[in-house]
Amino acid sequence: MRNKELGNDMPIGVGLIGLGTVGSGVVELLQDAPASLRRRKHVDFALRRVAVRDLDKPRSPALAPELLTEDAAEVVADPDVQLVVELTGAPPAFEWVSEALRQGKDVVTANKALLAERGEELFELALANGADLMFEASVAAGIPIIRSLRNGLVANRVESLYGILNGTTNYMLTRMSRGAGDYADVLKEAQDQGYAEPDPTMDVSGMDAAQKLAILCRIAFHCTGTGRDVFCEGIEQIESRDIEYARELGYAIKLLAIAKQQDGRVEARVHPAMVPEDALLANIHDEFNAIQVQGSAVGPQVFSGRGAGRLPTASAVVADMVELVERKAAGASTSIGDMILGEDAVAVVPIEDVQMRYFMRVLVRDQPGVLAGIARILAEERISIASVIQKERDFEGGSVPLVIVTHEAREAAMQQAQQAVATLDAVQGAVKLIRMEDL
Ligand SMILES: NC(=O)c1ccc[n+]([C@@H]2O[C@H](COP(=O)([O-])OP(=O)(O)OC[C@H]3O[C@@H](n4cnc5c(N)ncnc54)[C@H](OP(=O)(O)O)[C@@H]3O)[C@@H](O)[C@H]2O)c1
Repeated sequence: MRNKELGNDMPIGVGLIGLGTVGSGVVELLQDAPASLRRRKHVDFALRRVAVRDLDKPRSPALAPELLTEDAAEVVADPDVQLVVELTGAPPAFEWVSEALRQGKDVVTANKALLAERGEELFELALANGADLMFEASVAAGIPIIRSLRNGLVANRVESLYGILNGTTNYMLTRMSRGAGDYADVLKEAQDQGYAEPDPTMDVSGMDAAQKLAILCRIAFHCTGTGRDVFCEGIEQIESRDIEYARELGYAIKLLAIAKQQDGRVEARVHPAMVPEDALLANIHDEFNAIQVQGSAVGPQVFSGRGAGRLPTASAVVADMVELVERKAAGASTSIGDMILGEDAVAVVPIEDVQMRYFMRVLVRDQPGVLAGIARILAEERISIASVIQKERDFEGGSVPLVIVTHEAREAAMQQAQQAVATLDAVQGAVKLIRMEDL
């Protein structure tokens, strides 16, 4: 890990908290140091201390036992540690990171929940103590989207951002679209393949993507929203049947994270969306992630790659470590200023005020006047119909599926209409709504 042959003065003391999937990947990348790393003059890291939960677990790569501790606070307090790398995702992460920043130590983390929910406090703390807090791995792992938004696209006003930010759900929707089964089948398959956690809630509910979107919104739009301010709907209600209808209409269904400028505020939402099947994001398959950014100067750009995994995530962590070390060697002060939201901070638009097109699917009794009844409800909410598909009588007990695609409508109106349609006598079961995005 040392880069002695370049004759640097002093290595940077690194304290690692967490030596699991990502932490072990970071150690491996630093130990194997490719030429691209060795060529960097100031890149000279010395691993001083490593915190884990269980000292008895076998480790690969192996580390000297005296480096390991079960007390993360020891890592933060170690006077030989100048750079703390937090890779646990554990609840006390806020305490460890804030204490490190308070001591003026730089921090690199991959912890999206920490940044999405408590970023404001941490960035303020970093600025106050002249420390840096870097977090490239927290969104889309190895895809350098944070660095691109903060640096490469700094001369742009970001107009919109569409992301597939969760690999688990993208894998599941891809498998459903390939006929691998319905939601429960593909969830089990994703768990067997190691793409989904035993408790998949954060992924399938959209919350993981919402936290990532909140982080991107802070950078791209100077937006105050946390993960909880992002409207969030998961993929739990998506059925293979919806994917088939989408295909008939020329669309694919993706769990999209969407952020757009809207009259001085920002739309920020995560939900399943129908996207045209020839759109770039419709063709991001399996566990891959992608982000499409519309910049005022550069126009559209798409970033794509693996959004999780040991080495892709470690790659982003090491990139942050290198940038920090080089910035310090050049005598630069903390770079966190752009992450602090001042008086020009932008708020999130309530979902009720957002306008888009909708796909509505209902199962109705095959009798005269049903379509007229639904059309009347939509008209009362000032929602106009773009097209209607009525299938043959091929479903349960003489009922037929009816699919309606609307023109642009307000979400609040659409929700009212959804409730009213559900009360019609001829309507059976739930009224399914899927939002449509033309990208
Ligand atoms: N995995 C990915 O693909 C990925 C992608 C992007 C971001 N991230 C983020 O990266 C972070 C780490 O994820 P991961 O997948 O590497 O997790 P992981 O495999 O579960 O590893 C967690 C590590 O943290 C240690 N740890 C947990 N609680 C601790 C405590 N109280 N004190 C000290 N050490 C503790 C564990 O120790 P033991 O080894 O002893 O159990 C383990 O080494 C999370 O914030 C995650 O959201 C992960």
